[in-house]
Amino acid sequence: GAPVKADVSKLEPGQRMTVEWRGRPIWILNRTPEMIERTEALGEDRLSDPASSEPQQPAYAGGPLRSIKPEIGVLIGICTHLGCSPLFKPEPNAEGVGVDDWPGGFFCPCHGSRFDLAGRVFRNVPAPINLEVPPYRFESDEVIVVG
Ligand code: FES
Repeated sequence: GAPVKADVSKLEPGQRMTVEWRGRPIWILNRTPEMIERTEALGEDRLSDPASSEPQQPAYAGGPLRSIKPEIGVLIGICTHLGCSPLFKPEPNAEGVGVDDWPGGFFCPCHGSRFDLAGRVFRNVPAPINLEVPPYRFESDEVIVVG
């Protein structure tokens, strides 16, 4: 499939947009400084694969934020368990995610998998690996090319 462009100039801090690439939803998230702080502060003991050791990930997916720019997260919006679409639950202690100390992230309603705001999978859920980071680059400050 051809690469797809996303204009993030209107993406407000804290918001997420979706574009389609190869028939899959690509989430682009503009993380606030506070969201970044919450994500970086997560204890690795809560995560199954904090370093994103899954081999097919791009190199820039290796840090805690798994992105080229700290504020802009780019993820394939498909649960790594059985392919459902996780819900965006960015606020701390959101309802319905099944834990009390929720730091914000994504919750899969199918079987309860939880991911942080960088797509890192929490322990003790059915999803085995982090949400996938697609290949992407910045064509300019405001335009991302996915693919
Ligand atoms: Fe997401 Fe099963 S498909 S938890």
